[in-house]
Amino acid sequence: MEQWHREGAELLLAQLSSGPVTPAAFQAALLSVPATERDAWLDLAFGLEEVLGDGPRLPANCTPYLPCPVGTVLRALQHAQLGSGDVFVDIGSGVGRAALLAQLWTGATAVGIEIQPELAAASLALARRLNVARFSVLVGDAPELIERVSDATSFFLYCPFSGARLQRTVEALGSAARSRPIHVCCVQLPALEHPWLRPLPLPEGELAVYRSITR
Ligand SMILES: C[S@@+](CC[C@H](N)C(=O)[O-])C[C@H]1O[C@@H](n2cnc3c(N)ncnc32)[C@H](O)[C@@H]1O
Repeated sequence: MEQWHREGAELLLAQLSSGPVTPAAFQAALLSVPATERDAWLDLAFGLEEVLGDGPRLPANCTPYLPCPVGTVLRALQHAQLGSGDVFVDIGSGVGRAALLAQLWTGATAVGIEIQPELAAASLALARRLNVARFSVLVGDAPELIERVSDATSFFLYCPFSGARLQRTVEALGSAARSRPIHVCCVQLPALEHPWLRPLPLPEGELAVYRSITR
């Protein structure tokens, strides 16, 4: 990474540490970096150079922690039209990188759901370091916790799990969609085919975004 981008990341970290940064200022800082360098840059700006390992609480058949690429998260936010009045839920939130990126980029409230307590604690610590007040995390198995975020409007899943657990999660999202319109953003997951979910027309790739249909 070029020295002046490195300095830009360090400057943003200093600004975040000393008080709130507006979405416009955060977007300008991130967009000043070439797309290929944004992941390394964000890690620097968030002070996340060290990757936290997975603990013993990750069940078999669940995906270990791996951060979603910045470009993919930003495309999801764009297609879900996330704004400051929204509540964004990252299902399998790890150290909070995607959820806090969504919060800082849009001003939305961000909520993480994470099964590994060590990662959830790290995400809370990160939010505190970055002065992000509109972030909270629920610790436990995602399908059991989704109904607790009763005002969520956008859900994000970076392949946290598959099979029966994914099915239960989609059922919980279906219940949520009965009370309000929601977006569901999926990365590297099989296509969701349910009568209440309409896929948005996106170029073929790892990201799919769905909008709920009022029943
Ligand atoms: C591929 S990582 C995605 C991390 C995060 N969304 C990001 O992009 O930065 C998957 C995360 O899901 C979590 N996870 C896996 N199974 C889970 C479950 N049943 N309930 C909640 N979180 C789970 C893992 O601990 C891991 O942090």
